[in-house]
Amino acid sequence: ATTLPYPREAITRAGALEDNVPVPFNYPDAESFCQIIKTGHPVPGGIGPDGDIVAFSTQCTHNGCPLSYDKEARTFKCGCHFSIFDPEMAGQMVDGQSTENLPRILLEHDTADDSLYAVAVEGLIYGRQCNLL
Ligand code: FES
Repeated sequence: ATTLPYPREAITRAGALEDNVPVPFNYPDAESFCQIIKTGHPVPGGIGPDGDIVAFSTQCTHNGCPLSYDKEARTFKCGCHFSIFDPEMAGQMVDGQSTENLPRILLEHDTADDSLYAVAVEGLIYGRQCNLL
């Protein structure tokens, strides 16, 4: 089998992110919805100058509903059947109907110009047999 490489896509600059305010993007293609978030303190898998920037697929791993971010609880929540995922614990599912953690979008930080790039997906995006269509 041939393994296709993931695209390397610029998302934003680390300095443009505000603490606890997620920014949506699409990766590895337009049909895949993701969010990048700066948590404000170092977290597992976090990158950038403060080790606090992470990104996830935000299609629920239970049935594919769009997740929304709860700023107070600091979690991604699903309005369909109330699954909850924790971006500060590598996307771990902490409650609900789902059985899978959120797929992580692997990031790189270019210290030369402060750019953040999406470079791969770890975990299977909901509804896909392969992350790259
Ligand atoms: Fe999200 Fe069911 S689709 S909990």
